[in-house]
This record gives sequence, C-alpha cells and structure tokens, in this order.
Amino acid sequence: MSDDDIARARERLRSAARVVVFTGAGVSAESGVPTFRGAGGLWREFRAEDLATPEAFARDPRLVWEWYGWRRELVARCAPNAAHDAIARFAASRPGVTLVTQNVDGLHQRAARAAGGNDAAVLALHGTLFGARCTRCGQRAPHDTPVDATSPDTLPRCEACGALLRPDVVWFGETLDPRVLDAAFDAARSADVCLVVGTSALVQPAASVATLAARAGATLVEVNAEETPLSGVAAFALRGRAGEIVPRLLD
Ligand code: APR
Repeated sequence: MSDDDIARARERLRSAARVVVFTGAGVSAESGVPTFRGAGGLWREFRAEDLATPEAFARDPRLVWEWYGWRRELVARCAPNAAHDAIARFAASRPGVTLVTQNVDGLHQRAARAAGGNDAAVLALHGTLFGARCTRCGQRAPHDTPVDATSPDTLPRCEACGALLRPDVVWFGETLDPRVLDAAFDAARSADVCLVVGTSALVQPAASVATLAARAGATLVEVNAEETPLSGVAAFALRGRAGEIVPRLLD
C-alpha cells in the first residue's frame, strides 16, 4: 500500500456522487471490541452454536442473556475510534453516503451523533446489542439496562405481553430485517464507490453488499489488516489498521 494508492482512492471517494461504506468487526477492533474470527475473536473462545442461535436461546436463555450482558458491559467501556469518527464526519458532511454495518456495538451510531449526523440512518444489518425483542409479540424496544441472568425467572420480560425478551440481534440461521437489507442492497447497486472496512466478508447475505456494488460497476476500496475474499476484486486493497487508513481516505 503506497501513499499514491491512498491518494488515488481518496480522490475516487471524494469525487463520487454515491458512496456505500460497509463495515465489520475490524472497524471496532481498535476500540477494544473483540472481532469474531481474528486472533482473540469471540468465535475462537465461544461456540456460536451455544450462544448465537435461536436453538441455543430456546435451550438456555439464561446462558445467552449472560453472554450478551457481558458483551454489553464490554462495549459500554469502549468508544468510537478514528475510523468511526472519520466515517461519521464524511457522512455528515455531504449527501450520497450510506453506512451499512454488520456490527451490533452501536459505535457508528455514537460517532454519528457526535458528528451531528443522523444515527438512525446507519443500516445495522445484524441488529443491536442495546435492544430487545419479545419472543411472543415481537415488540422491539431499546434495552441497555443490566440483565440479571442468575435464573430464568429474573430474565427481562415484555412490558406488553409479559413473554421473555431476547437480544435484538440477528442470530445464525435467522433472516435479516428485509427493510434494512433491501435498503442496503439498493444503496450498493447504485453506488459509485463501495468502501469496505474490517470485514472477513464470509457471512451472507451481508457480504453481498460489497459484491453487488462491484457487480453494478462500483469501485471497491477495501481496508483490512489481512487479505479477504474481496481483496481480489477491490480496485484498492489497502492493508493496515482502519484507525490509521480511514481518516487518510475521508478527512
Ligand atoms: N483494521 C482493519 N481490519 C481489521 C482490524 C483493524 N484494526 N482488525 C481486524 N481486522 C479485520 C480482520 O482481518 C478480519 O478480516 O476485520 C475482519 C473481522 O472479521 P470477522 O471477525 O469475521 O468479523 P465480521 O466480518 O464483521 O463478521 C461478520 O459474522 O459472527 C458474525 O454476526 C457476526 O456481524 C458478524 C458477522
């Protein structure tokens, strides 16, 4: 990765009418939020099938809530980093920028608020750690109060119907919210440039945001510490840390 690569990618981003920014766990790594598959990643330490599937929740909701409670506390101690902030400033400073994230940590939304931008415009494909959904009536609500997971009887309940609440995240084997996914795919298909930051691009349908954009003719700019399946189709595969490279591309 040369300074010239950065300069040319930067020019491409600044002159584009429509930009999709697509992010994964790597954009939050420098904030202290563990990724999933990298060194120290959550799926290296924990079994996804025990914690992040509807079957796991049906089997042991207490264990699942305990784990999400632990992730919430961890994320609550973290702050948006230079990459989140640069993306937020870029989106707030001009029209035509759509931010699509796989992350449930809320750091993009916090950075958007700090930049005077619209945090509700962040398309969060996989939901949020700080929300809950009713397992019976489906009612959704923000939920960031500490969870008492000592027994099934202490777990959070729906105010409307009294049924058990679950974390408002998309688990393996579940479908994404079609409104959010369609909005992300529409933005991808009409993008001039797709900036992909910190994702292994292994999880579908999310990873299709980048391939749809590339197939529709968008220039792919990838920022990642490692090679990914997207590196070969990227016009600019910028290797390194998001916190260092993204501000150089967008500020
Ligand atoms: N800067 C840039 N890239 C980084 C950094 C960094 N500081 N640290 C790690 N990365 C890269 C890694 O090289 C890897 O390619 O970020 C990527 C993180 O990949 P994953 O851990 O697989 O996370 P992600 O792609 O977001 O996972 C997708 O899988 O587990 C599910 O629902 C979960 O949303 C998640 C989805």
